[in-house]
Amino acid sequence: MSDETTYQNILTRLDGRVGIVQLNRPKVLNALNKETMGEVTEALELFDRNPDAGCLVITGNERAFAAGADITQMAEATPVSMLDNPFIDYWDRLRRIGKPIVAAVSGYALGGGCELAMACDMIVASETARFGQPEINIGVIPGAGGTQRMTRAVGKALAMEIVINGRFLTAEEALRHGLVNRVVPVELYLEEAVRLAAEIAARAPVAVRLGKEAVNAAFETTLQSGLAHERRLFYMLFATEDQKEGMDAFINKRPPVWKGK
Ligand code: HXC
Repeated sequence: MSDETTYQNILTRLDGRVGIVQLNRPKVLNALNKETMGEVTEALELFDRNPDAGCLVITGNERAFAAGADITQMAEATPVSMLDNPFIDYWDRLRRIGKPIVAAVSGYALGGGCELAMACDMIVASETARFGQPEINIGVIPGAGGTQRMTRAVGKALAMEIVINGRFLTAEEALRHGLVNRVVPVELYLEEAVRLAAEIAARAPVAVRLGKEAVNAAFETTLQSGLAHERRLFYMLFATEDQKEGMDAFINKRPPVWKGK
């Protein structure tokens, strides 16, 4: 399955029930060219369909999660060549992954790299992580969600500085402003992300999936329709064997055994 597929720009492996995708272009700080994003998307979609994986992790290396879209590939682009290119669509495809994705970020998460981390569901950062949208320095603005997701995460005032003045956030600032879940020493960031993902992967799979969907719906809709959506998903879970199992296990004071059904 996915853990055996050979890629040019990424490494993948299954660690217990955690599917791990590692960006592997260290010489260019994991700059995201279209081939890399194609592989990342394919690998995550494969893990999403693999019943052996319960939660996914995407990471880079200590120096860089990803320093942005590959500027060498964008330099000569035109509006029409961008339209014809599936590149930015890859970030949208990540939104359709049903299983949770944890970004394990160390070093630079810039431009499209920051947008990739923000397209995930949670971020575990090393103390050395730096988040930014420095597109303004090369004459453009973020194009894969940076203006929207950064603003939702940290608020308008700080997002403006980040987007139109190229301000970087340290890991501690990112934590304080709600962009990341936790900050750990650099030697622990991947381990901690995999540990968090393994915890989630051990939970009732359908409930995890619908919980992710429900939280994400909060960013798309009014409170009223978000609450209605949540209630439908909540009712739907009463059709699962895992709901019966979870409640029976609680009542009988035993650990539940999840089936994902
Ligand atoms: C292509 C990149 C790159 C990038 C780094 N490199 N970032 N190549 N695209 N985004 C390459 C460098 O050219 C260099 O190659 C090598 O990686 C190491 O980088 P250095 O600059 O030598 O390292 P350092 O001095 O430590 O500086 C690190 C850095 C800097 C601050 C992260 O590399 C930088 O500013 N990078 C660009 C960041 C950026 O603007 N990102 C946004 C891109 S636009 P050589 O061959 O010289 O060793 C974007 C738009 C997204 O993401 C739109 C939607 C998809």
